[in-house]
Order: sequence, then structure tokens, then C-alpha cells
Amino acid sequence: MQSASLQTENRIKFKDESWDFRKDFTKYSNHGFHTYPAMMIPQVARRLIQKYGRDKEVLLDPFMGSGTALLEAKLHKNFKKAYGIDINPLALLISKVKTTPINPENLKGEYHQLISRCNSDKKSVNFREKEITKPNFFNIGFWFKPQVINDLAIIKQNIEKIEDKDIKDFFLIAFSETVRNVSNTRNREYKLYRMSQSMLEKHNPNTFEEFKSKASKSIIGMEEYFKMHNPNCQVNILAEDTRNLTSIPSNSVDLIVTSPPYGDSQTTVAYGQFSRLGLQWLDYGKEEVLNIDKISLGGIPTKDLHNGLGSPTLKKTLNEISKIDPRRAKDVLSFYVDFDKCVQELHRVTKKGAFMCFVVGNRTVKGVQIPTDEIILELFQTKNHYEHHNTFIRNIPHKRMPKINSPTNISGNHGVTMNEEWIVIIEKQ
Ligand SMILES: C[S@@+](CC[C@H](N)C(=O)[O-])C[C@H]1O[C@@H](n2cnc3c(N)ncnc32)[C@H](O)[C@@H]1O
Repeated sequence: MQSASLQTENRIKFKDESWDFRKDFTKYSNHGFHTYPAMMIPQVARRLIQKYGRDKEVLLDPFMGSGTALLEAKLHKNFKKAYGIDINPLALLISKVKTTPINPENLKGEYHQLISRCNSDKKSVNFREKEITKPNFFNIGFWFKPQVINDLAIIKQNIEKIEDKDIKDFFLIAFSETVRNVSNTRNREYKLYRMSQSMLEKHNPNTFEEFKSKASKSIIGMEEYFKMHNPNCQVNILAEDTRNLTSIPSNSVDLIVTSPPYGDSQTTVAYGQFSRLGLQWLDYGKEEVLNIDKISLGGIPTKDLHNGLGSPTLKKTLNEISKIDPRRAKDVLSFYVDFDKCVQELHRVTKKGAFMCFVVGNRTVKGVQIPTDEIILELFQTKNHYEHHNTFIRNIPHKRMPKINSPTNISGNHGVTMNEEWIVIIEKQ
């Protein structure tokens, strides 16, 4: 096993701005259906698939999120199967909708009927000829203005009348994106913060127009996808947990393209908070909605104190953090204890010769940068034979992530700059 630092000297690990895709359009085909935190740039997934998946047939994204890698696999000719795993029900629905081809003519027909039903209901409600059933989840009035609740309820009720499940799900995703855009949450933030009073006073969204614009743009995306997708590639979306034994057969996967969470949801990206309002409007149960961050990697602090888990880099990093704050070192370890369980499962499901491509962020905790790219490599190499091919360092050109985050989770205590991502390429021997 070659050490990560030696490989660095051999320029296996280097900055490569050709991975930045600074000016590229990232919303082509179905990629623009729904925002999601820390989305992978489709061009990165596409290039990884072209470079490492040329003769491969089965792709897996074990932390699928909004399904960027799966969608790219469907746009590639040679794949027969694409698996995606996630614990977040919103991620599962977005990915299902983005990868399911639907004849755009059917979507257009359904869209016109849907809008006409909505308009007619709106008139009846305004003239008090009809009552609309509104949801009643916790704090709904805090996050939405009364008129917005009314209009969302009308749209939702009419989407529910669509008989074809795939078409219904397609409009539910446009609806979920609308929910976010018309809510009282502060723009562009993944955590749930309400607008200031002065912003709220000016906030007067046109919910119908918002939904119409979202749905029609998605129909245009589907027109492109319907022509381009590979019908021989079967997509399997799994509501499972990558830490556990999954339903994927052993030795079956020959390419992994994924971007795992950057760390635990409490102190990095709050997937649960991001998804909460959409899921509540989509009638998901309270437990399901509130538990997402807890069941994410590192969501529950570890009792396991196996410092380092066989990764010398993790051990050294934890020592540095624990000198400043032992509790935070334990939080960090929790994430890697969970990640190590995923390493076991990925080892089981992959074939010899499989390529694994991880796009990771090296965050900073208490002023100590955590080299996740090296830790991941060491976790794989400790127990098994894996060859490190390359680590490309790319700039994050778009504001998908807060460039500066608060590692202690205390507002104002800024210390991390997430301007770069590391793309780690490993081959199973
Ligand atoms: C960085 S996001 C992936 C984003 C994705 N590449 C995209 O383009 O949208 C990481 C994902 O890992 C998921 N996740 C966290 N813990 C998980 C676990 N134990 N098993 C499977 N997925 C998990 C989160 O819900 C989140 O959707």
C-alpha cells in the first residue's frame, strides 16, 4: 500500500481546473427539476462515467441525493443498471422522477387539465362556493402566508387527482420545489430560517405562477431526456441505509460515482431541515420527516472509541481536534465510524476491477482541516487491496455550499472555507 502523501509527490493528487466547469450549464435534461443541498455538478458525474465507466454496466451511487449520477448513467449508452441509495424520502422521490422517462406529450396534456382544474377551484374558493382542505402540520402558519397555503392546497389536491403514478410524482416534485420558493424561508439557505419582518411584509409570491413556471420548465427538460435516455438501463432506487447490508447482490457493481455527506448533518449540511417543508406538504409522517438528520451518517454520537479506525490520518486529525475540544473530536469520529460501515458494504457489492469515484469536501473543525480524501482512501486500503489512481482537486465555482460555514454551529464563529472539492479515484484489485 502506497501512502497518500507519497502519491501526492508523484502528482497523483493535484489541482485540476478542468474539473471546475465554471461556465457550463448545469440544468440540462432533467437536472434542474429540484434543488438539493450539495448537488454534484452533472458535468463531474458525466466525466467520471466517461473516464472510468467506459466498459462498465452497473453503476451505484450509495449517497444518491437528487440522483445526478443516476441520471447521467441513464444518459450513457453502456449501462444496464443504476442503483441509488438514500435515507431521505425527498431524495428518493426526486431521483425517481428525474430518471423515469415520461412521454412529454402526455405531460403536456395532463398539465393543461391540471392548471384548468386549479383555476376553476381558485374561482370557486374565492366566491366561497367551495371549501379547500388544507394541511395542518406544526407551524404551517409560521412558514407560509394564508393565501399561499390556500393556493398550495388547491394545487396539491388537483395533483392528487392524476391517475398515472409517474405523472403524479412528476408534478409533485414541481410542487415541492414551489413549496420552498413561496415559503417564508430565507432564500438560498438550506437550514430553516424565517425571513426578517421587513422582508416578510414585501413577500407576496404568486404561487400558481411559480408552480406553472417550474412545471413547464421540467416538461422541457423531460422532452430532452425522453429522446436521449438509454431504455436498456434499469434504475433501482433503494430506500435503504448504506451502513447496513443492502439488497444489492455481492460482486455486482462495477462503478461507483458519489458525493457522500461532508460530515454529520448537525454541523455541515442539514438535509433534513432542507427537506422538511416539502415532505410535510407531501404528507410524509412526522417521524420520517424529523428523523432524517439523526439517521444520516454521524447523526448519533458514537460510543465506539476506536480512534482512527485503521486510518493514520484520521487518528492524527482526531488527536489535534481533541486537544482543543474532545467532545467535537468524538462528533467527528462518529461520522467516520458510520462511513467505515459503508466502506464494508461497498467492498461487498463491488466487483474486482470496479472503480470508485468519491467527490468529497475537506471541512475544518476547530481550525483543523480534516483530509477526508486521504481518510477515505486509507479506510478502503486498511482492510483490502485498493489502488489509488488519482485525486483531482477542483474549485467549487457556484454557490451551492456556503463558502464559509460555522464549524461550531455558533453563528458568527466562522472558520471553514469550502472552496474546493477532492475527487478521489480508487480501483478495487
Ligand atoms: C452530498 S449529498 C448527495 C448529493 C448528490 N450527489 C446530488 O447530486 O444530489 C449526500 C446524501 O447522502 C445521504 N445519506 C446520508 N446518510 C446516508 C446513509 N446512511 N445511507 C444512504 N444515504 C445517506 C443524504 O441524505 C444525502 O442525500
